[in-house]
Amino acid sequence: MNTLEVVILAAGKGTRMYSDTPKVLHKIGGKALIAHVIQSAQDIDARAIHVVVGFGGEQVKQQIHGDNIKWAVQAEQLGTGHAVAQALPQIDQESIVLVLYGDVPLIRHETLRELVKSCNADSLALLTVNSSNPSGLGRIIRNDQQQAVAIVEEKDASSSQKQIKETNSGILAAPAKRLAQWLTALSPKNAQGEYYLTDIIAMAVEDNCTVETLTLDDELEVLGVNNKVQLAQLERHYQRRKSAELLRSGVTLFDPSRIDIRGHLECGKDVEIDINTIFEGTVSLGNNVRIGPNVVIKDSVIGDNTQVFANSHIEESTVANSCSIGPFARLRAGTHLNNSSKIGNFVETKKANIGKGSKVNHLSYVGDAIVGENVNIGAGTIFCNYDGVNKFQTRVHDSVFIGSNSALVAPVQIGKGASIGAGSTVTKDVGENELAVARARQRNIDGWKRPEKK
Ligand code: UD1
Ligand code: CA
Repeated sequence: MNTLEVVILAAGKGTRMYSDTPKVLHKIGGKALIAHVIQSAQDIDARAIHVVVGFGGEQVKQQIHGDNIKWAVQAEQLGTGHAVAQALPQIDQESIVLVLYGDVPLIRHETLRELVKSCNADSLALLTVNSSNPSGLGRIIRNDQQQAVAIVEEKDASSSQKQIKETNSGILAAPAKRLAQWLTALSPKNAQGEYYLTDIIAMAVEDNCTVETLTLDDELEVLGVNNKVQLAQLERHYQRRKSAELLRSGVTLFDPSRIDIRGHLECGKDVEIDINTIFEGTVSLGNNVRIGPNVVIKDSVIGDNTQVFANSHIEESTVANSCSIGPFARLRAGTHLNNSSKIGNFVETKKANIGKGSKVNHLSYVGDAIVGENVNIGAGTIFCNYDGVNKFQTRVHDSVFIGSNSALVAPVQIGKGASIGAGSTVTKDVGENELAVARARQRNIDGWKRPEKK
């Protein structure tokens, strides 16, 4: 079998996005449009992926990385045929070339695999689609035997050709050697003065090269993004695909249209996810995890039987089994919760290791901390980790009790079994089982008179 090389066209400016960001770097599911296309190319084991860039090319090159990506530059956008020609010198003559568009992100690798199957040294494979609204697209011209013989662009089409609903997706596979010959023969004698890639269909027919077509009914799979309306439309389509995958794998979604996955979400058994939840980066949820409404989780691992209550935000954290988080909790980068620990409402943690069975139930900040097992941290406790210049660590050993509204000024250690009286500002280490009280003593003044209004 011939090797497969992919060419991705991404030189267009994307004028109608009204953005300084090159079109193919706009995102769907948190990932650049072109990164989706590259992923599909990688999924079908392309030997090399040639990306043709032009407008904003440097930005694209900086942000997109991956195995076997090669870059080609099309300085002037002279048409899709001209764009493919820019990559051709780097391509093995004996290979099959699959042309994809950088702004058509939802093409499935299954479709590509099927398309490529019908391409060989003597046959070209074209992906077409039955369009409900074909306007602006190239029309597929078929002969009496129903064989595709040409593509006519909208601007060059006669009024009867414009009635045709079968359109060119733009995606095709062709043998490299013949493709090279056809591209050299292209001429810009058409309504747009461009070198049309689509003209190679008629050339192939002329050359006795078979033209095979694969026709889709799902227009969104090959819809290109030209503006923010289409971007939003494809985002929803992508999210529907993702939530359908989750449902099929056994996850309970309270409303499949109100979950957004911007990355990769892996779920164990019997996971329940409430509405308006966002998962970013790589997130893994264990068995029996329950995620409440309005929760955002990014690049984190949540262990079995853990519950995350409403309005919590979790980022770069690992949470073990049977923990309880929120409502209204914020776990920042470097938080590690051990089994059966609890982070309650209005608590913020950062670079904090919370031991087994420990609780921070209300209104606290726990930063740069190592907290042992079965510790109770009272409401309003602040770990003062920053002196305005440097950060310091606090260590709280097992079975400590910290009274409400305490400030622990790092670096400081609280020994095993120690207690801190409410309202203390602790600046010195506390020994095992000691009670530290660091607050002004209460005075009760007898016979004091409240001032009266004059
Ligand atoms: C093209 C097809 C049309 C098809 C439609 C599907 C041609 C001549 N026409 O039309 O039959 O129905 O796609 O969306 O091929 N690009 C470059 N360099 C260029 C021109 C384009 O890299 O010089 C890239 C664009 O960035 C884009 C893709 O090629 O990713 C398609 O370009 P676009 O201008 O959208 O093609 P259409 O004219 O709409
Ligand atoms: Ca287009």
